[in-house]
Amino acid sequence: MAGITDGSFCRKLASCGFDMVTIGGYNVDKATIAAGHRIIQRGRSEFDVSPDEIINHIDQQIHIIKDDNTWGGMVSVNIRAITPEPVIEISQLDGVDVVEINAHCRQPEIMDLQCGQRLLLEPLHLYELVKEVVKKAGSKVSVKIRANVPGVDEIAVSKAVKNAGADFLHVDAMKPGHQHADYNIITSIKKSTDIFLIGNNSIKDLKSALKIIDAGADGISMARALIGGCVPFDLSLI
Ligand SMILES: Cc1cc2nc3c(=O)[nH]c(=O)nc-3n(C[C@H](O)[C@H](O)[C@H](O)COP(=O)(O)O)c2cc1C
Repeated sequence: MAGITDGSFCRKLASCGFDMVTIGGYNVDKATIAAGHRIIQRGRSEFDVSPDEIINHIDQQIHIIKDDNTWGGMVSVNIRAITPEPVIEISQLDGVDVVEINAHCRQPEIMDLQCGQRLLLEPLHLYELVKEVVKKAGSKVSVKIRANVPGVDEIAVSKAVKNAGADFLHVDAMKPGHQHADYNIITSIKKSTDIFLIGNNSIKDLKSALKIIDAGADGISMARALIGGCVPFDLSLI
């Protein structure tokens, strides 16, 4: 996932050996869709799907990924929303295995809605949101967070996500000023929180993948290294 909402692209990559592909992120309610329009107006490309079409659009992409039944992995949908209801609705779509609550987006228009990365500053609000989704979801639930955001206690956030009942914690272990992940933050989260931890950031070869696993991640995810449509190393070696 890196701004790609193309089911065919995900399907092609999935068969390279991934257990899960993530599609999105999608703005799924009126407030986040309107924020998306403001982001487009200042020149950044965003997905522009109207509130009336968003569910059908996601449904179609899921079917493109899963329809031939030859790949047995999970499809996760990364979602920006201000309330739990649209996340729950998407979790109940046929073929959605995981809904991923985006507590990662740092676009100001999204953060102004107390959404995306802003959720990290309010672990109690994040907890309530995740708990409500978990209670009614038709799929597993993941939460995507970003590390090293000023003022954020990643351990408190991770515990809130775990206590709310999420299945996965997906950590973009971004380390400002560095071209590699913050391995220490992965270790600290793993030591303090018993949840399936997906480690992310700057994985581009076997060495960087193994380093994040050695730090404590249960799995890895990649975005920019996959934009060309192929995996730069043999995933079976992890
Ligand atoms: C163009 C672009 C768009 C992205 N869009 C999203 C998104 O919608 N949701 C999300 O959780 N992460 C998004 N990300 C973040 C990536 O998923 C990933 O966390 C980040 O790029 C670090 O991983 P990498 O070093 O493997 O690219 C985006 C990244 C890029 C480069």
